[in-house]
Amino acid sequence: MSTFWSIWISVIVLGTVFGCVWLLWATRKSQTTDTETDRTMGHSFDGIEEYDNPLPKWWFYLFMATCVFALGYLALYPGLGNFKGLLGWTSQNQWEQEVQQAEARYGELYAQYGSTPVEELAKIEDALKMGQRLFANNCAVCHGSAARGAIGFPNLTDDAWLYGGTPQDILHTLNNGRQGNMPAKGTMPGMTNEQVDQVVNYVLSFSGRARDEAAAEAGKQVFAQACVACHGADAKGNQAVGAPNLTDDAWLYGSTYDWIRETVLHGRQNQMPAQSERLSQDQIQILAAYVYSLSN
Ligand code: HEC
Ligand code: HEC
Repeated sequence: MSTFWSIWISVIVLGTVFGCVWLLWATRKSQTTDTETDRTMGHSFDGIEEYDNPLPKWWFYLFMATCVFALGYLALYPGLGNFKGLLGWTSQNQWEQEVQQAEARYGELYAQYGSTPVEELAKIEDALKMGQRLFANNCAVCHGSAARGAIGFPNLTDDAWLYGGTPQDILHTLNNGRQGNMPAKGTMPGMTNEQVDQVVNYVLSFSGRARDEAAAEAGKQVFAQACVACHGADAKGNQAVGAPNLTDDAWLYGSTYDWIRETVLHGRQNQMPAQSERLSQDQIQILAAYVYSLSN
């Protein structure tokens, strides 16, 4: 703030406080007696008149006390332009102090949990409670507060994993994030609409839901050409590229004919954001244990 505005603000603030004191004092002095009188102000509105009585003493002293308090406050805390106050308080250093206190309280526990292997950590109830809170704050927006996921956001409580459910896999997912990329029409960009229909029927046949058995049979060929590179010859998926198992009943997107057709026609792009920049390693370890505990 420039010196001009600093002085401007100080003058207005102090002027107001001293103005109040002066006003109180001046009007008090003009009164000759402290006792109540019958004197009125001399005007009347609809027969209502106003007494010209002095302020009650308690009221006067209370008002004076607030002015004294204001001056004390302005001396201790910032309020007069650039003057920082005698205590040197800032919202920044109060926040830092609170963070330090919290770190002193939780830091030791965090460090202890952070160096415990995920499998063991997943058996410690207090660590899981901490993990649940971290999950609610950092992950629930996408995965849901019960971690059951939604369309496009994987369910973390089942045994179906895009990228693997071992502690190392989960830690890798959390630290580095994941990028799921299914190209439109797989590795066969020139796929005809008929072939799309065939391969969709073939995918549906894994769970006995093919609409058209003949098309499903023909879809086997298309699948071999366009899909096995990622989803595997048995369609059980490949965690190295995050290609889901298409034979189980866990679906990232919808499992109906229309949903699967949409996936094949237009592909899918999906991202799990990396957490290593946002969260500490100890927090990630605790979260990994929480996620691990959901399905183990
Ligand atoms: C912005 C949304 C978003 C947030 C926030 C988010 N995730 Fe994810 N997460 C995803 C998406 C989307 C995927 C699937 C990525 C894919 O399909 O390739 C995913 C995948 C995962 C996986 C892999 C699941 C599997 O089947 O292999 C795990 C584990 C995971 N997230 C845990 C977490 C945890 C723990 C947090 C909190 C620190 C978190 N996620 C925060 C969107 C999010
Ligand atoms: C380059 C690798 C790749 C190829 C080729 C590929 N996919 Fe995928 N597919 C993926 C990935 C990765 C995902 C997960 C996308 C995500 O994380 O959102 C996926 C998702 C899907 C899904 C959604 C599964 C669910 O749980 O909702 C279906 C269905 C699917 N693929 C079918 C196919 C079919 C049919 C073909 C062949 C025409 C094919 N894919 C070719 C990588 C591939």
